[in-house]
Amino acid sequence: MTGQPPPRRPAPTSPLPSFHLDAEGRGVPVPVGLAPRPTGSGEILELEPDPEDQTQVASRKHLEYTRRSTVALCVAGSIAAYKAAEVARGLLEAGVRVIPVMTQAAEEFLGPSTLSGLTGEPVRKTMWDPNFPGEMHVAIARQADAVLIAPATADLISRLAHGRADDLVTALALVSEKPLLIAPAMHPSMWAHPATRRNVAALDADARTEWLGPVDGPVASGDSGLGRMMSPAQIVEATLFRLTSKDLAGLKLVITAGPTAEDLDPVRYLTNRSSGKMGFALARRAAARGATVTLIAGPSGLPTPHRVKRVDVRSAIAMRGAVWQALGPDLSMADALIMSAAVSDFRPAETHASKQKKKKGESAVHLELTLNPDILAEIGHSRQGPRPMLVGFAVETDSDEKILGYAQGKLADKRVDVVVANRASDSFGRGDNRAMLVSSAGVEALGVLPKETLADRILDRMRLNLLGK
Ligand code: CTP
Repeated sequence: MTGQPPPRRPAPTSPLPSFHLDAEGRGVPVPVGLAPRPTGSGEILELEPDPEDQTQVASRKHLEYTRRSTVALCVAGSIAAYKAAEVARGLLEAGVRVIPVMTQAAEEFLGPSTLSGLTGEPVRKTMWDPNFPGEMHVAIARQADAVLIAPATADLISRLAHGRADDLVTALALVSEKPLLIAPAMHPSMWAHPATRRNVAALDADARTEWLGPVDGPVASGDSGLGRMMSPAQIVEATLFRLTSKDLAGLKLVITAGPTAEDLDPVRYLTNRSSGKMGFALARRAAARGATVTLIAGPSGLPTPHRVKRVDVRSAIAMRGAVWQALGPDLSMADALIMSAAVSDFRPAETHASKQKKKKGESAVHLELTLNPDILAEIGHSRQGPRPMLVGFAVETDSDEKILGYAQGKLADKRVDVVVANRASDSFGRGDNRAMLVSSAGVEALGVLPKETLADRILDRMRLNLLGK
């Protein structure tokens, strides 16, 4: 391969522990925070971690918890190549090691130093590197848990379909026995062309192939249609989904998320500050871990997690209806209900069909509110046996001691198995949360965790209750 240019400046370290390919293609681990940097001479330059960098701290926390996967991220020559940097970044943030590979044409669109700078790994571009003792394509294939091609051009898809091994990407795809995830990006006419259709069908015959898009939308030429690359965030999510072991397979979960909105009239409503992030993280992680997930979401702009059935509702009454429908009248249709929604406790006693006007001379308005049904308590009191397992949340604004007291009260009053207790200021609108798991077995303080990691801890507890492991 051609020599890698030295980094222009000592870039901040990768937030992740890194590996370097040794001569036999084995990964040589470098301790957390000490990312290898490629230099012109092929030496490894070690940089110190930045203790102040919160992204690194959060990622390390995530890493402590997840097994480290490796993805060979292959970039082909498409205008969408610049989005590969975002894909790399998303995978790195989730604790994945990324080995960057580029076709020759990709270099016309994306500078390799972008990918080496982000990943802390040399960008592999050719099989013919005299300094690499061994076979590059075999070495990478041996380490990668998945080969992700993003973007994939019509030409690359054609070469893959024909089993060619005429560059590093195709040779690597041919050696790898792991999932091959392909995110096409091309003009809609190229995607629709019978030749591409035949190539796609040929690759489909291999069960390892998974297509990530393309999606409908505008492409570089200004035309619009099926050919646009899936968004980097969706590619990252689908890749993580594929990499995650399915330890919740066979379980059916109902998860609620977000606030509810209680309408006064067509323009005004009562709601709360919940963003829905926690419930969506639970749904995303549960689905990635193999559970069948129904997500009942109050008003939220968050994207639907990969392979999750989403039911959008607005009010507490509508959420109650959707929860009962998902669980079934005898509660037998799910193994667990996780109520992470911040259900409005009250709704206006009267909802008006048209906008209410101010009345002349009126200096105060009195609003009558009615208590909403407590969905979780209703289910808890209807439940006959241990299923569905019930997980509630307690969002409070007091001291930890008081929060614990409230959580214990809710555990008993609502007859649930676990209450996730947290403070509103630690949780609402944030990417992380400081929570305690309260159950009849005691209290487990989890400390500050990214919501995805907290979701995994809650799901671990659920798995233990339901499956005994
Ligand atoms: N919950 C529910 N239905 C409601 C209110 C709350 O199912 N009408 C659920 C929430 O989804 C959460 C748990 O009950 O899992 C606790 O919600 P929270 O608002 O913290 O407590 P409340 O029971 O409403 O009590 P309070 O507001 O007085 O603390």
